[in-house]
Amino acid sequence: MRFVTFLLGAAALFTSVAGQTSTLCNPLNATCPNDPAFGMNHTFLFNTSSTVTTSFNITAGTLNYTADGAEFTVAKRLDSPTIQSNFNIMFGSVSVIMKAAAGTGIVSSIVLESDDLDEIDWEFMGGNATFAETNYFGKGNTTAYDRAIYYPVSSDVRANFHNYTVDWTADKLDWLIDSNVVRTLHYADANQGRTYPQTPMTVRIGIWAGGDSSLNKYTIEWAGGETDYSKGPYTMSVQSAEIKDYSSGSAYEWTDRSGSWQSIKALPGNSTAMNAILKAQIPTLSAAQKFQALPQATKLAVYGGSGAAGAILLAALLFYCIRQRRTGALEREAYNAKVEKEREDVYKDQMELKEKGYGGWNNAEVANQGEDALGGWGKTHGSNSPTVPSTPKFPNVSTNEIDRADELWGFSKCSTKSRFPFTKYL
Ligand SMILES: *[C@@H]1O[C@H](CO)[C@@H](O)[C@H](O)[C@H]1NC(C)=O
Ligand SMILES: *[C@@H]1O[C@H](CO)[C@@H](O)[C@H](O)[C@H]1NC(C)=O
Ligand SMILES: *[C@@H]1O[C@H](CO)[C@@H](O)[C@H](O)[C@H]1NC(C)=O
Ligand SMILES: *[C@@H]1O[C@H](CO)[C@@H](O)[C@H](O)[C@H]1NC(C)=O
Ligand SMILES: *[C@@H]1O[C@H](CO)[C@@H](O)[C@H](O)[C@H]1NC(C)=O
Ligand SMILES: *[C@@H]1O[C@H](CO)[C@@H](O)[C@H](O)[C@H]1NC(C)=O
Ligand SMILES: *[C@@H]1O[C@H](CO)[C@@H](O)[C@H](O)[C@H]1NC(C)=O
Ligand SMILES: *[C@@H]1O[C@H](CO)[C@@H](O)[C@H](O)[C@H]1NC(C)=O
Ligand SMILES: *[C@@H]1O[C@H](CO)[C@@H](O)[C@H](O)[C@H]1NC(C)=O
Repeated sequence: MRFVTFLLGAAALFTSVAGQTSTLCNPLNATCPNDPAFGMNHTFLFNTSSTVTTSFNITAGTLNYTADGAEFTVAKRLDSPTIQSNFNIMFGSVSVIMKAAAGTGIVSSIVLESDDLDEIDWEFMGGNATFAETNYFGKGNTTAYDRAIYYPVSSDVRANFHNYTVDWTADKLDWLIDSNVVRTLHYADANQGRTYPQTPMTVRIGIWAGGDSSLNKYTIEWAGGETDYSKGPYTMSVQSAEIKDYSSGSAYEWTDRSGSWQSIKALPGNSTAMNAILKAQIPTLSAAQKFQALPQATKLAVYGGSGAAGAILLAALLFYCIRQRRTGALEREAYNAKVEKEREDVYKDQMELKEKGYGGWNNAEVANQGEDALGGWGKTHGSNSPTVPSTPKFPNVSTNEIDRADELWGFSKCSTKSRFPFTKYL
């Protein structure tokens, strides 16, 4: 639905609702910046926050992430968590696997929205178990609300995941439920194309209370009745979204103020969104994998020498802390830079260990292997390599062991204030 008209003054209350269907710069009236393109096909899995932080903006509220996907929850008045893609598609398809929220007046929605207010919608009313609403707008034209059509779904939309697709080209727009086409809009059907959605779209997913008592009676009626927040919270779960951009390039330029698809130009290059996704896909090693990736000689250096048990705890702590740190922004850096940095870190850490005379240092190995014994990554070793025993097993790092290491060495884990020397690199 086109909320801007319905909500009037109340729109400001629901930041996301306004955000879901409004525009910062309308290219029909003004010269606007180019729209960043998607320029690829990708399936977003919402069981981790990094999907959202990499490719979407949270324009209102906060989400929870579970094995089932991202949860969008209305727990109280004015909650309206919403995300918006940081890219645009210029014709394409969007398939969202989701479970709508229950609750009278609660609206779960998938909205494609362009700068000049072309819009393609899926909407689910929490009070209606078996119907999905499809809708569209062209250039923000709201003179007739006759475009909304409801379609039955095979099982309760709030209890079951279904696959809701829009497949959008210059010729026609299909809405599909679980791969069955339920509705087709041809270009000419929309005022001879004038109000056919045809400009670069962001993808927005969110939930709000169309049944909030502050809204006008038409909106509340459309949403299925007044929302009773005391019966909440009401949660929509989004498992995944497969998004395809049928164009390629780095950005979409509006070359005139017609709002016609012929006026949109795809600029060459790789998209920022694509680069971000490719970077995020770089595998991140677990602590045990990092340890295994060390040359055998390094592992021997860690295990060998006196105080082997202490050394194992230290190694456990070291990799635990590295792992903790790596869950942050560093993971996005280019893979090579990351490996190089880790190599340096391990080297520094080990030099510190050595200087402080802590256990787990094998001087003979250092003499034998030189720097390579101090955390070189995967280099092959000469014939003077020591006999390598069967692969050392990385200890299971339990919180208890970390705490024991804490006690043993008198520092607090991963803290920059720690007395423990190498934590300053963590
Ligand atoms: C754009 O201009 C049209 C016609 O002048 C006007 O009706 C419309 O409200 C304007 N839209 C925006 C978003 O400024
Ligand atoms: C994306 O998918 C569409 C339709 O399945 C296909 O035609 C297109 O080649 C794909 N694009 C890329 C970049 O793989
Ligand atoms: C997310 O789901 C995918 C596909 O089921 C799975 O491979 C991946 O491990 C899951 N990630 C998390 C963080 O649960
Ligand atoms: C999305 O977030 C980016 C980076 O924080 C920001 O530059 C951009 O303006 C945001 N876009 C929207 C539509 O909020
Ligand atoms: C996230 O889940 C927790 C535990 O179920 C819940 O307490 C919290 O309110 C949820 N937060 C959001 C934003 O949904
Ligand atoms: C669900 O929506 C359909 C289509 O608008 C309507 O026919 C049906 O009566 C609704 N069911 C409920 C329980 O509101
Ligand atoms: C807006 O939509 C109405 C109803 O479909 C139509 O009669 C009118 O011509 C449209 N206006 C424009 C500018 O396309
Ligand atoms: C959802 O439906 C679309 C359209 O039929 C299909 O291409 C896609 O593979 C489906 N997604 C899943 C996860 O089944
Ligand atoms: C785009 O990405 C491809 C593959 O990652 C790369 O080979 C190419 O040089 C990139 N093009 C530009 C213009 O950056």
